[in-house]
Amino acid sequence: MDERSVVTAYRRLSGTYDRFFGPVFEQGRQVTVGKMDCQPGDRVLEVGVGTGLSLAHYEEGVQVVGIDVSPDMLEHARARVNGSADRITLQLMDAQSIDYPDNSFDKVVAMYVVSVAPDPKKVIEEMKRVCKPGGELFIVNHFSQGKGPMASIEKLVSPLSKLVGFRPSFPLDGFLRMADLHVLETRPVNAFGYWTLIHARNPDA
Ligand SMILES: C[S@@+](CC[C@H](N)C(=O)[O-])C[C@H]1O[C@@H](n2cnc3c(N)ncnc32)[C@H](O)[C@@H]1O
Repeated sequence: MDERSVVTAYRRLSGTYDRFFGPVFEQGRQVTVGKMDCQPGDRVLEVGVGTGLSLAHYEEGVQVVGIDVSPDMLEHARARVNGSADRITLQLMDAQSIDYPDNSFDKVVAMYVVSVAPDPKKVIEEMKRVCKPGGELFIVNHFSQGKGPMASIEKLVSPLSKLVGFRPSFPLDGFLRMADLHVLETRPVNAFGYWTLIHARNPDA
């Protein structure tokens, strides 16, 4: 995966994304935003906001910045939030190099993004950097199983990652070692619990 292939993959997917990935990922979005328990005045960064399907789940009074590297996905998000510009800001930005100062947000969330970005380690480092000390991080992703029938399918489609726009082979234990997160909870979400929500606390300074 590289940035160009991500942008190309999501240019292709953007028109049909909501129809297919809207319902498939929806329970995970709702559980995640519910778990975030945002309070009025909270500043939230949503990394890889895509077409903005999660944005309706945030309470009024929460300031949300959504960033994405795909102009095509963001165009759909912009149409969706039309009229909420006072509390939702959308920006074309690479999550591997976030253009905000350290400690800018109370909560930082990435839904279905870390196995898509070219350098997941850099994304996590940036999420931690812009999150306030003691703030909260939320990551939802599919992590590969390593065994069972799904493992064979993941291996089979692995060489197609540029085409499908994500890395099918992405094990949880390797990710947690690499991310070095202070994990508070992990829980399965979406159909068959096939995706995992990770809730972590950003270390105090
Ligand atoms: C599977 S979609 C998820 C979209 C949305 N979070 C949702 O719940 O439907 C992955 C999104 O991550 C974005 N993305 C991938 N790499 C990125 C990066 N380095 N920086 C910002 N966004 C990125 C893609 O453009 C795409 O919109």
